[in-house]
This record gives sequence, structure tokens and C-alpha cells, in this order.
Amino acid sequence: MKNQIIKITFCLTIALTSILFIGCGEKNNKNTLILGCSADYPPFEFKMNGKIVGFAPDLANLICKKLGYSLEIKDMDFSSLIAALNSGRIDFIMSSMTVTEERMKRIDFSQVYYEAKLAVIYRKNNIVDTVEKMIDKKIGVQLGTTMELFIKEKAKQSPSINILSLNRNPELIQELKIGRIDAIVIEQSQVEHFAKANTDLTYSILNDNAAEGYAIAFPQKSNLKEKFNKALNEIKESGELQALLKKWSL
Ligand code: ARG
Repeated sequence: MKNQIIKITFCLTIALTSILFIGCGEKNNKNTLILGCSADYPPFEFKMNGKIVGFAPDLANLICKKLGYSLEIKDMDFSSLIAALNSGRIDFIMSSMTVTEERMKRIDFSQVYYEAKLAVIYRKNNIVDTVEKMIDKKIGVQLGTTMELFIKEKAKQSPSINILSLNRNPELIQELKIGRIDAIVIEQSQVEHFAKANTDLTYSILNDNAAEGYAIAFPQKSNLKEKFNKALNEIKESGELQALLKKWSL
């Protein structure tokens, strides 16, 4: 009898604790949004002293504050962001992601928050400043990006362009510095940053490219899209967006 009472009390305690935990979890889920990004793209999203910083986390914080959410940031490879979003591991992507027709088949985008240009970074002693000069050279790009699509398209016409796709930009920069690749196709603001940090490197803007419009991505039909667009409009009108661009020298 005594044993049974102990057992019942034990089970009840476990059940109550689980209910409490589940309750907290649900509450937390509703109040916190998880942003997914590839934190390797200064000055937009990158790591400084182990912390994810940049224009995008700042903008995401402003938006979340306006909408009454707290923000958690997860760093992951760029090529795994869309899968993470569609499986619910993150709530939105803000990772300098360009709006493309192909991506729009799988995710929804907010309005564009920044327009970028494609660029190429190379060693000062090995000038690769045009697509023509990429022939017979090894060109690095980040896996799953529009730069990878761009260079693959060029390689269809000039098969002697060799391509190396890697997950992270700092890895590509290392490969370039030690001479294992000849250039990296990347975007303007980021090359400016990387060239400043590495005096052996320099860059050029690729002139035959269309503008890359960065937007925030959501799962299809998410009601967050509308809310974020409204908050973005307010942030634009109040001058806060301008201030953020200035803060990150954009
Ligand atoms: N804008 C390019 C794209 O959408 C590259 C983005 C890379 N972003 C990053 N955080 N590494 O494919």
C-alpha cells in the first residue's frame, strides 16, 4: 500500500513537471523567433568575438522589437538555410539572400532591404578581374549561392573555368591567400570588407551582372511576412534603416 502511494506520487510529480515544461516551451516558442543565417558575410552577418553581429542581426532586432518578439540567432551553412526554414528549425532567414524565381518556388520573401552587385576578389599579384580572365583558372564560390549559379552558367560557355564550391567564405579566403584558387566570385560590400582585412587581396565589380536584391525569407504562406513588411516600412520611414546602413558603412 505504502509502495503504491509512493509510485503514484512519483508518477504525478513527473506528469506535473512535464506539463510545466511543455507549457513553458510553448510560451517561449510564441514569443521568440529564430533567425537563421550563415554568419560569414561581413558586414551583413558575421562573427565578432564569438558573437553574431552585423547589419542583418541589428535589423532583425529592430523588427522583432517592434513586433514584440525576442530574437534568437542560429548560425548554419548557407546551403542548409532553406531546408532548416521549411522543417521549422528556424522561423526566418536573413542572410543576404537574393530573391530568385527558383527560391520563390520553395519560400516567400519580404520586400528587398538591400541591393548588391557581384564582384570578384583575387590576389594583387594574380589579376582575375573579368569573367574572360577566369578561363583556365580555379574560381571559388560559396555553396548554394547565386554566385555559384553565375559561375556555373559562365562555365557552360567556357568549360575551362574550374569551380570550387565551399560552405564558408572565410575558408574560400584562406584558399585564395594560399594560392589554391585564383579568385572568388562574391558581392561588393563583402569584398570591400575582406580586401581591407587582407592587404594581399584586391577586387573588382563584375559589370555584366544584374542587381542582387536581398530580402528576408519565410516559409510559404507564413503570416510573419506581412508583419515584417509593415515593420520594415516603418523602419524605412523613421530613418532607422538609413542609420543602420551608416553604422555598418553600407
Ligand atoms: N546573395 C547571395 C545569394 O543569395 C549570397 C548570400 C550569401 N550569404 C551569406 N550569409 N553567406 O545566394
